[in-house]
Amino acid sequence: MRRKVIAGNWKMNNDLQQSVSLIEELKNKLENKSLNCDVIICPPFTSLYEAKKLIDGSAIKLGAQNMFYEDSGAYTGEISAQMLKSVGCEYVILGHSERRTIFGERDEVINKKIKKALSQKLKPIFCVGETLEEREKDITEKVIKKQIEKGLVDVTPDEVLDVIIAYEPVWAIGTGRTATPQQAQEVHNFIRKLLANMYSKDFANMIVIQYGGSVKPENAGELLSQKDIDGALVGGACLKAESFLGIIEAA
Ligand code: G3H
Repeated sequence: MRRKVIAGNWKMNNDLQQSVSLIEELKNKLENKSLNCDVIICPPFTSLYEAKKLIDGSAIKLGAQNMFYEDSGAYTGEISAQMLKSVGCEYVILGHSERRTIFGERDEVINKKIKKALSQKLKPIFCVGETLEEREKDITEKVIKKQIEKGLVDVTPDEVLDVIIAYEPVWAIGTGRTATPQQAQEVHNFIRKLLANMYSKDFANMIVIQYGGSVKPENAGELLSQKDIDGALVGGACLKAESFLGIIEAA
């Protein structure tokens, strides 16, 4: 059985002080609760070091929101996998649609990042998803297939078990308009079949596929009860301890 994974992507929110408050509140709320899922928080780079110290000894794990694929050098403004490891990150979100659209990240670059993260034992949360226009043109599966095949070029069967896939329909991100549980399940099932073709059925059955896009406590239960939905990548609702906890409890 796959264990569910609930990850909070803080995006560009919370300075150091705000990060400390949110983590402390979340930690208190989670204390003494037996969880049915793994919990990951992905604060901005500037809060990672302090976040690691605060979550030590708790069930919360740490992830970053991006990284570069080179080890070091003249790459102004970039952060390496090793730097993330050094502040205690276990996960890194890669290929988020905001990186793809606002910062022009292409599948080839995302693939390099995924391979570098894996080589440094950082687990990628690899995001894929179609735009509204692509869904309306009925090319959702084609788009997802291309993103996954290109993103996972040269990722070996052993490595792929450390990859979490996050299906995030772009039209559902931050819009309040979530995919119906059936719409999401359909794409998750498609992704699992695709992974079975690329690797094997056994491997595909072990890979965690999260859903992301306007997940909140009110819709989390039904989404997370779908057969192929193994967790959530949460944006807006993870910025309040109460609503993130509601999603964690729905898992
Ligand atoms: O990474 C998280 C997603 O972009 C979802 O964001 O929950 O605010 O729609 P959202």
